Amino acid sequence: MKKVRASVPAKVILFGEHFVVYGTRALATAIDRRLTVDVTARAKSGYHVTIENIPTFGLELDLEARKGADQTIQPYKDYGSAAQALSYVTGAIEYLEERYGIGDEGVHVAITSGIPLSAGLGSSAATCVATVAALTEYFGVRNDLERIRSDAHAVELRVQGAASPIDTAIATHGGYVLVEQGAVQHVQLPELRLLVGCMGSISLSMDTAKAGDLSLKTKALIAGVRARKEQFPAFFEAVCNAAEELTTEAIQALEADDAVKLGTLLNSNHGLLDAIGVVPRRLSSLVKSAQSLGALGAKVTGAGGSDELGGIGSVLVLPGRHEEQIRAAMELEGALVMPVRTGGEGLKVETSG
Ligand code: MEV
Repeated sequence: MKKVRASVPAKVILFGEHFVVYGTRALATAIDRRLTVDVTARAKSGYHVTIENIPTFGLELDLEARKGADQTIQPYKDYGSAAQALSYVTGAIEYLEERYGIGDEGVHVAITSGIPLSAGLGSSAATCVATVAALTEYFGVRNDLERIRSDAHAVELRVQGAASPIDTAIATHGGYVLVEQGAVQHVQLPELRLLVGCMGSISLSMDTAKAGDLSLKTKALIAGVRARKEQFPAFFEAVCNAAEELTTEAIQALEADDAVKLGTLLNSNHGLLDAIGVVPRRLSSLVKSAQSLGALGAKVTGAGGSDELGGIGSVLVLPGRHEEQIRAAMELEGALVMPVRTGGEGLKVETSG
């Protein structure tokens, strides 16, 4: 029986998120948390899709139950975000049917993922790239990496309305990318060991069903930054120039294998993100904990967050010698912590049968 497996990496932005929207260069990298799509034949016609093992997480406390015998805080799975992940699969299927006429035989599409959803780690782009790659390979559509990337980007755009080119580029090609004015350039830089911490909070203002919607949250955060830019244009220009300077220095620090300098630059980038108002209390606290325990550097990564919007956000930490203590402290604060390596492999496709 024919079987196609496509797997892709998650991403983190190391430097320049938000400022990249205004033309500043951003540096992002693949990390070794992957999402896999398996496509196999099905006796019936049509598509059958499963999605599992996603590390979506949260805690739930029922105050009424607390008065009684059952006082435990329950862990829960974020099924809302998982359901949303399916919209990228259906989006990809519709797009490929229209563009290449795939799908005259039935298939199972099984997704397994080690990438937390809606956390700024590129899970949507990963789903689009791996689904497009696996289905085009299965149905014998002529594809190559560049076509897979651009088809997946088109799917993400269609589902979300807006999508960063960074995420699909990293999911497809892996490694490091430098992004400037929408153009994505691949760069060779050495591997780093980082901790990525994801943390959720309940939205104060939005419907909680929508709080997991990364595209909605990201759009609201970008709009908030734009409003502050318009209110204080000279200040904003100075911060953008500072962000550009940090990206330039960071590339040099990475090339020179200077982890101490790189850490300082990560801390400074975090400060700039705070200055433009995208650092919520819980992510700020995670960064401060890591810094106070001797991390070489720590920052919010991706769109960040706001206490009002809630949802899940992520931080990255260059831990230096204190990785175990820092990890334990972040977990005590309620974060899902993943030790990762940067710059890893992009899309891998295997066919059997
Ligand atoms: C979101 O992950 C990163 C932002 O810089 C938006 C973008 O690059 O499109 C906030």
